[in-house]
Amino acid sequence: MLRKNHFKNKKIIVGITGGIAAYKVPQLVRLLKKEGAEVQVVMTDAAKSFVTPQTLSVLSENPVLSDFFKNTQGEWNNHVHLALWADAIIIAPAGANTLAKMAHGLCDNLLMSVILSARCPIWVAPAMDLDMWTHASTQTNIQTLIDRGIHIIEPEDGELASGLTGKGRMAEPEQIFSALENQLLPPPNFFTGKRILLTAGGTQEAIDPVRFIGNHSSGKMGFAIADALIQSGATVDLVFGSVSIAIPENCNTYGVTSANEMHQQCLALFPKCDILIMAAAVADFAPVEVASQKIKKTEDSITITLKKNPDILSELSENKRNNQITVGFALETENEKNNALAKLQKKNLDCIVLNSQSNPDAGFGVDTNAVTVLCKDGAQWQIPTASKSLVAQQLLQSLSEWLTKTH
Ligand code: C5P
Repeated sequence: MLRKNHFKNKKIIVGITGGIAAYKVPQLVRLLKKEGAEVQVVMTDAAKSFVTPQTLSVLSENPVLSDFFKNTQGEWNNHVHLALWADAIIIAPAGANTLAKMAHGLCDNLLMSVILSARCPIWVAPAMDLDMWTHASTQTNIQTLIDRGIHIIEPEDGELASGLTGKGRMAEPEQIFSALENQLLPPPNFFTGKRILLTAGGTQEAIDPVRFIGNHSSGKMGFAIADALIQSGATVDLVFGSVSIAIPENCNTYGVTSANEMHQQCLALFPKCDILIMAAAVADFAPVEVASQKIKKTEDSITITLKKNPDILSELSENKRNNQITVGFALETENEKNNALAKLQKKNLDCIVLNSQSNPDAGFGVDTNAVTVLCKDGAQWQIPTASKSLVAQQLLQSLSEWLTKTH
């Protein structure tokens, strides 16, 4: 099974609190960066006595955040956006005070506010003196956090800063890295071992040699789905139009420009695939004629006649084999659910993923999304606002559960 680079495109917040073990965290940041993660360090003021923001900023290639406000003009670090941006949060070291704050929902610093706003998985690597660790209040707090689904990376036995020996040393950066790695690797699912034809990005329909009709699609959602499929061990044929981000690795890529090119490429690849996921924003119309030279602005107005493009998804879905599955996307500006349901039926789809245009944290260009999934047997569910990468993982996980039940 192909499962490489699974920190690639992962957005990870490394939260550092005050404690001597903070000096080891730059090594964790290095390991995460080496494996392709995007790292944002958020540290408390107390942590700065043990490790410098400069070191962490250089290693993470991002400014380190610790205050609610960026400057005296009142510009602030939006903890909600930070929390939604992240695919995972690791707090290392987490002292007894931090664990107590987390257990009781206190948010008196930026890191605590991020944690309270987070929807992604959270890990903590506790570090403290042995008696603080075994103290009933710490253990009760730890149990509260476990009950809430927070992953605890157990401290180790050994020499402590106090000179005492016992349990309380923070796990080594390599172990913290492995714990994240094991949990972030998705378990096998319906997509594992399957061949998926996935489209992403927008198409461009030429008007003349320098102009085109296009749309705002960035390819971010489609590429996040590609990454999640690759991590699940699927073989991905990715047909992409115009995009504004780097093209995923570890899949077969086919760049196209127009809807017609996408159509041809998809027709060639569809017979080999088990599942088609059409996340591309395909132009519905294209100019009837493409001017051979750049159109001059001699007239006050011009008319461009458009003709309908082939509906790739409808055509492929109509001709699908019994065991082939087709998933479409819909972006509606009104009567969203009903229009999406009508499309599900008309295009003979198994499922349709509805993007909400009315939500400012969802849709074109932004890093977050929120979707509703509608299936042909009436099943439907929502995936709330989170990073596109997390939404992609949750989308595939939920689709996998539905597909396993129904196929
Ligand atoms: O009909 P509408 O454009 O809203 O449908 C959206 C879905 O159909 C998307 O999955 C999109 O990729 C696909 N589509 C297509 N060919 C077109 C237009 C849309 O495959 N010409």
